[in-house]
Amino acid sequence: MARLFLLLLFSLLHSSVTGLRRSDFPPSFLFGAGSSSYQIEGAYLEDNKGLSNWDVFTHIKGASKGNIDDGSNGDMATDHYHRYKDDIEMMHSIGLTSYKFSLSWSRILPKGRFGGINQAGIKFYNNLINGLLEKGIQPLVTINHYDIPEELQERYNSWLNPEIQEDFTYFAELCFKMFGDRVKHWVTFNEPNLLAKLEYFIGGFPPNRCSEPNGKCDYGNSSTEPYIAAHNMILAHAKTNNIYRKNYKSKQGGSVGITIHMRWYEPLRNITEDHLAVSRALSFEAPWFLDPLFFGDYPHQMRQILGPNLPKFTAGEEKLLKNQIDFIGVNHYQTFYVKDCIYSLCDIDPYTSEALVSESTERNGIPIGKLTQDANTYVVPSSMEKLVMYLKERYNNIPLYITENGGLLGYAQIPNISTTVEEIINDTERINYIRDYLTYLSFAIRKGADVRGYFVWSLMDSFEWISGYTIKYGLFHVNFKSLKRTPKLSAKWYNKFIKGYEQIE
Ligand code: NOJ
Repeated sequence: MARLFLLLLFSLLHSSVTGLRRSDFPPSFLFGAGSSSYQIEGAYLEDNKGLSNWDVFTHIKGASKGNIDDGSNGDMATDHYHRYKDDIEMMHSIGLTSYKFSLSWSRILPKGRFGGINQAGIKFYNNLINGLLEKGIQPLVTINHYDIPEELQERYNSWLNPEIQEDFTYFAELCFKMFGDRVKHWVTFNEPNLLAKLEYFIGGFPPNRCSEPNGKCDYGNSSTEPYIAAHNMILAHAKTNNIYRKNYKSKQGGSVGITIHMRWYEPLRNITEDHLAVSRALSFEAPWFLDPLFFGDYPHQMRQILGPNLPKFTAGEEKLLKNQIDFIGVNHYQTFYVKDCIYSLCDIDPYTSEALVSESTERNGIPIGKLTQDANTYVVPSSMEKLVMYLKERYNNIPLYITENGGLLGYAQIPNISTTVEEIINDTERINYIRDYLTYLSFAIRKGADVRGYFVWSLMDSFEWISGYTIKYGLFHVNFKSLKRTPKLSAKWYNKFIKGYEQIE
């Protein structure tokens, strides 16, 4: 009897170390996949939708301003606007318990607050939300995932103007009114930290302003603009959450978070200087947005580095800002080595926009992780545990969702890599990737981190911003001629895992 018990105990312990199981996560844990309006909806001019900044940006052609790698756009994308019912079936078929999607601002408010409400847009999202709930799929709704009404760009320069805070809160409140009886998870912004850089520092996203004149973007004041844009987004989030807490939370019972793009950094050398460089680099990631929304001000490293270029909050704003988040969303893809560059010449990291750190993919000739096929990402699953623990410590173990992981991964259809449809569909590399990142996520949960959900990026192949349709991220393959969706191996694997059919090694 005692031997049997020991044997049982051994096999239990053994299985939880070697194999990932659904039961490594809490029963209420959400397993989902994500998308965003411009990347999948299409129907860009239908049913009174207004033009978004991305509609306009993707239509600008010409040598110096051919904005999208393959010259494409999201006019049709995956045609989700007309196929949402089938897409819900598709989600259901692989057992998703949640779906992260975003609302097209210009479909609901074609001209922001300077025009009327488009009832057809409201109807579309009502149908989508109702359809999801009928299948037991929780909607996790992003209010803004990059695309804004073009009107706001033309009228007052969008994120550079504090006026946009008013437009955003007007839109968000309308969403609470229209959908809040059924939506319980709201994300105000998707990756505002990356957005501010891509719009106003690196270029590539409209209004396409950048730090160096290179014929592809408009040379702008990159030392201040990304921080002004971010400042307006942070205040817009706080005001929105304030409205939700005052007028909707007790009736609707939902929660409001924000999703941050978060790289992880490792010190290149095991020396104090590089450890400090890591902490500075990290401050330009999540803390840039989360510190103000928890503590009322930017991280002190950002202040030191950026000086007067970093805007200040008034005393009233600081008060308003504190404690304005119910949960953190994290989109995680990349890990880089960082080295201290204060006293030597280094390449400037465009994301941290200062010369204190440089990124490297190798330490003593050892790459940081396995390079994926599109030569863009290093796979370092252990970073998942580290970054979750970092956020847990810094923000008092507030609930956290991994709102994206898994993109930028292999099976890219890019020049020099001829990938067949079969290869794209047999995506074992993606399975390994998701399983390994989930494994390290489960370690963080075991150490007490309050993680409540994980979303694969993405539900299906879609319009990948400046890469157009050249990169395939989906659990489902989309044939962009017939628009037929086909589950990849990873979708089948995810289904089995979520349903706990078998122990996944
Ligand atoms: C982040 C963005 O939220 C999403 O829109 C994008 O497609 C993926 N990462 C992959 O780049």
